[in-house]
Amino acid sequence: MTHDNPTPAINDSTDVARAPHRAGGHSPNCHALPALNEPAIDCSPLLVKTRKFQNARKVRALGLYPYFRTISSAQDTEVIMNGRRILMLGSNSYLGLTNHPKIKEAVKSAVDRYGSGCGGSRFLNGTLDIHLDLEEALAHVVNKEAVLLYSTGFQVNLGVISAIVGKGEYILADKSNHASLNEGCLLSPGEMLRFPHNHMLALETHLKKLPPSAGKLIVVDGVFSMEGDVIRLPEVCRLARRYHATVMVDDAHGIGVLGRNGAGTADHFSLTDQVRMIMGTFSKSLASLGGFIAADAETIDYLKHHSKELIFSASITPANAAAALAALKIMLAEPERIAGLWRNTERMKKGLASAGFDLGGSRTPIIPIYCRDLLTTFQFCKRLQEEGVFVNPVVPPGVAPGMELIRISLMATHTDDQIDFALGKLEQVGREVGLIDR
Ligand SMILES: Cc1ncc(COP(=O)(O)O)c(C=O)c1O
Repeated sequence: MTHDNPTPAINDSTDVARAPHRAGGHSPNCHALPALNEPAIDCSPLLVKTRKFQNARKVRALGLYPYFRTISSAQDTEVIMNGRRILMLGSNSYLGLTNHPKIKEAVKSAVDRYGSGCGGSRFLNGTLDIHLDLEEALAHVVNKEAVLLYSTGFQVNLGVISAIVGKGEYILADKSNHASLNEGCLLSPGEMLRFPHNHMLALETHLKKLPPSAGKLIVVDGVFSMEGDVIRLPEVCRLARRYHATVMVDDAHGIGVLGRNGAGTADHFSLTDQVRMIMGTFSKSLASLGGFIAADAETIDYLKHHSKELIFSASITPANAAAALAALKIMLAEPERIAGLWRNTERMKKGLASAGFDLGGSRTPIIPIYCRDLLTTFQFCKRLQEEGVFVNPVVPPGVAPGMELIRISLMATHTDDQIDFALGKLEQVGREVGLIDR
């Protein structure tokens, strides 16, 4: 998924841009000065686009708008929406830790000890001992020399790629990479070349054309966040060796899910030594907010002194660092969580496949149900919510037109009863909207 612009692709109308914007329906006269007691007319060309923007309003008018839904409880297997309990099948809290008592306790103690914020960036006054503890623990888990924390995963991808890839150097990026990787590539003065999703021949074709001595970064998601499939990492690493490229893996959805003790995609393929940089986030399995890059000590030291998103942004809060550290400890101490996540994934996948849904090539707890139609996707999502199941719709430009899907993601803590309830509802609504045979 590109995530370039997450709004649904119902065409904008230009009418609104031309419409009068004042009560009474008169066209604004941008050249006349407003009387002193009159509000100024906004004739700013800059904001024409905001008046033209109709997509969201159109979907709202159809009663199908599925974004910014309000939850009034903790992110757990069930959440409260509009005063009603609803089964959560749209969370990235894969290990089910966001409401864990030990993590909440760790957060409270961190706030008692360090207060609510750091008052500055890591570079200057904002480095706490708890940041170093978390970096050390993460380095141990992903088996790299050093780790550097950022305030979000998005910032990691911006800050690392833009600092590492310079002018005259190249980035080779999978077309389904996360938006934050794409934005990081755009920030870099290097040249970005994209290859079709998981298409190793296309990657090699790009690599062959580049000057052998030029710096090259191959950057990929470990687990693709919408499709739920996994990067062909052995082939990526083979090509990187052959063409002297450096590999970076965004493992937002791999940490806590794949590999020994949740170490991620590189560990899953026993290729940690060949992936020079592993990026992770705390907003998924690690039940918090923040992100990290893991690499060799020299690369981390370079980033500490060149990465603007790190140097000029406040450090991750004590509460967030404490939550991530506590989650990491639970992940290591309770490997049965990861096993449970996979058991749940298999149960759900088996049920969905036998109901006849099109699940694409998912290999992970992210399970797409392909609808291949915009309205069906929104209707499916809305009807499921009415039936007590929360899922996420994914529509163009997030995916290519014709690839619209409902994204289901499992947690370690879903029960068999919850999964069976969901399967019953998915099958019922799937028939209703015509996705599976009656
Ligand atoms: C693949 C991937 N990379 C990076 C990010 C950004 O992480 P964060 O939520 O920590 O900003 C996300 C989050 O959606 C993601 O899915």
